[in-house]
Amino acid sequence: MARLRCAVLISGRGSNLEALIHACAEKDFPAEIKLVISNRADAGGLAHAAKAGIASAVVAHRDYASRDTFETALTKVLEAVGIELICLAGFMRLLTAGFVDHWRDRLINIHPSLLPAFPGLDTHARALAEGVRFAGCTVHFVRTEMDHGPIIVQAAVPVLPGDDEHALAARVLSAEHRAYPLALKLIGAGRVKVVGERTEISGMSGGASILLNPADDQRA
Ligand code: GAR
Repeated sequence: MARLRCAVLISGRGSNLEALIHACAEKDFPAEIKLVISNRADAGGLAHAAKAGIASAVVAHRDYASRDTFETALTKVLEAVGIELICLAGFMRLLTAGFVDHWRDRLINIHPSLLPAFPGLDTHARALAEGVRFAGCTVHFVRTEMDHGPIIVQAAVPVLPGDDEHALAARVLSAEHRAYPLALKLIGAGRVKVVGERTEISGMSGGASILLNPADDQRA
């Protein structure tokens, strides 16, 4: 079966990109990364693409006069290689309605909180300040409202006594590295359908679960 042709958009370190690259290398994984795009030439994550022999491009937002022209350039590069799904992985640019609507239900993001709690920046510090007992991450389809859209996968981790934002961020990040590949696998396998503004995952049976929960995380 043809594998889903994906692009991963990054701005920095690229640890989620690395997790997706590893997943796509698994036998029979239903998606492949055809292109990595960074809006910053100095993004560390570009090295992961190079190491894996994946094509990459820098589309620097600073080179464009407006968000629209930047996004038109992105779409041109993406469509030139027949991209079917865009995965935002630490891509730190807000996208306009024009881009989001063009790629509707073909554009996903990972966010380091259990949405709809804590959209935006500084999620871990804000979660600690609120005294929440669980933190986590969310993979979702992108809508024009920031960090909002149909949820595909969430992973929860405990907030432990003594956590500072770095400790919590590290625990959440390891959950991200499991949640994003799972979401991509489900989409690549054609199991995710957007119904209304929620997703339905087909083929769930018996004990199979898309929940990545704290107990799992403790065992990991
Ligand atoms: C990840 O924690 C991701 O969830 C977050 O940026 C980090 C990127 O790390 N994304 C957002 O905050 C988007 N709202 P990475 O470059 O190592 O994948």
